[in-house]
Amino acid sequence: MALVAEITHRCPLQCPYCSNPRDMAQAGEELSTADWQRVFAEAAALGVLHLHLSGGEPMARRDLPALVRTAAAAGLYTNLITSGVLLDERRLAALAAAGLDHVQLSFQHADTAEAERIGGMAGAQAKKIAAARLVVAAGLPLTCNFVIHRQNARDVAAMIALAAELGAGRVEIAHTQYHGWGLVNRDALLPDAAEVEAATAAVEAARAVHRGRMAIDYVTPDYHADRPKACMGGWAQRFIVVTPSGRALPCHAAETIPGLSFPDVRGLGLAEIWGGDPAFLRFRGTGWMPEPCRSCAFKAEDWGGCRCQALALTGDASATDPVCDRSPLHGALPALIAARAAIPPAFVYRRPVRQS
Ligand code: FES
Repeated sequence: MALVAEITHRCPLQCPYCSNPRDMAQAGEELSTADWQRVFAEAAALGVLHLHLSGGEPMARRDLPALVRTAAAAGLYTNLITSGVLLDERRLAALAAAGLDHVQLSFQHADTAEAERIGGMAGAQAKKIAAARLVVAAGLPLTCNFVIHRQNARDVAAMIALAAELGAGRVEIAHTQYHGWGLVNRDALLPDAAEVEAATAAVEAARAVHRGRMAIDYVTPDYHADRPKACMGGWAQRFIVVTPSGRALPCHAAETIPGLSFPDVRGLGLAEIWGGDPAFLRFRGTGWMPEPCRSCAFKAEDWGGCRCQALALTGDASATDPVCDRSPLHGALPALIAARAAIPPAFVYRRPVRQS
């Protein structure tokens, strides 16, 4: 079981597929240091093993070493998910001394100009590369993460080569998910079959080259699939996400679902939320499922796919995820891909949010 702590929505980057909601929390709304420390202690007591410190850019919070220290003392494995642009030797040393276990560093591309165009931040690539080298030099395990879309899918080989050159133990090549900002920018991001094939072939070739030295994870694109993924390992089965302002969610996009209200960790303990909150129970397990999910042999494997994607594509979060070829709406996905503009439209960037 894992806790994703979105400790801030502030970030110097403006990625057009950002997983933050379009209506982002401001600095004044964020949980205090003491609030987060209590949440981490409650998570450990509940049986959470992994803590993902995420954002926004988590390094925008000056109290990050104190948060890591509390989490490590509670026995949580701490993973910092960062753009790297605010990381320097002094701040990394403070995090390592506090007990940080792992760093996941996001890149937008291997090419500097393209990376900075996609991320909307001049000078970011050199900072990321410097951050990666610092992490490896500090002896911390490094994962490099690249989000893939139609504007970089043919460049995956160069991305994996960059990760290897930086000394990453793992690289994650993950196709964009179309919620929030990704949904706003879908036409600019959605790859066609040839672009997906190019990315997949590059991953397979690189796996043969790097086997035994660097693991390569590949998150395939839902819109090109016939079987849905078990999103977040099933609704409220493996993950709790806590937003900067303290709402507990089963996934990062859950607040897009109308009719659900999510609890505030300042008013309710994580154990009560996990065990009995109505929003957490709403899609947990298989009892909520309509046909064709209800009679499907895979219902306890894919858990009906992604509720937020079902909402985005059908207007109904309780519908079968149209990624599944048993959904009556499965044919809408090839139609969406075929209908994309030949020239990608300009990105709608998430606005930059100042750090404190
Ligand atoms: Fe919410 Fe998939 S992102 S269930």
